Amino acid sequence: MSNAKWVIPTPEDPARENEPALRADAFEVPATPWPLACVLVRSAHHTAAFVNRCPHAGHALDFPKGRFLSSDGAHLQCRSHGALFDPHSGECVSGPCVGERLVALPIERVDGTLQIDLPAVLRTD
Ligand code: FES
Repeated sequence: MSNAKWVIPTPEDPARENEPALRADAFEVPATPWPLACVLVRSAHHTAAFVNRCPHAGHALDFPKGRFLSSDGAHLQCRSHGALFDPHSGECVSGPCVGERLVALPIERVDGTLQIDLPAVLRTD
C-alpha cells in the first residue's frame, strides 16, 4: 500500500457548490486497521479534511452524527465540551483545548476527485 491513494466520497450538491458557506461531511477511511472517522470541510474557496477526534478528550466532534458546524456556521464544533475549531487549520480557537489542533489529512484534487494519501493517514491513526 506504499503509494495508495483513496478517493473520498464527495456527494456534490450542485446548488451549493459555489456558495461561500461552509459545509462539513463525515466520511470514513476504510483501509486502516479500524475505519478512521473523518470530516471533510468545504466551501467555495477551501477544502480540508481532519480526523474526527477532538484533541481535548478524544471524542468524536459530531453529536448527533453528521452535525459538525457551530450555530453560526463559521467553525467546526465539538459537541462534548463546546470547543470551536478553525475550519481551515483545525486549530482550536475557543474552549478547553485552545491552541491544540485537529489532525489534518493530506488531500489533493485529482481529475475532479479528492484523494487521500493512505500511508499518511495510517501514520495519523
Ligand atoms: S472532547 Fe471535545 S471539547 Fe471536550
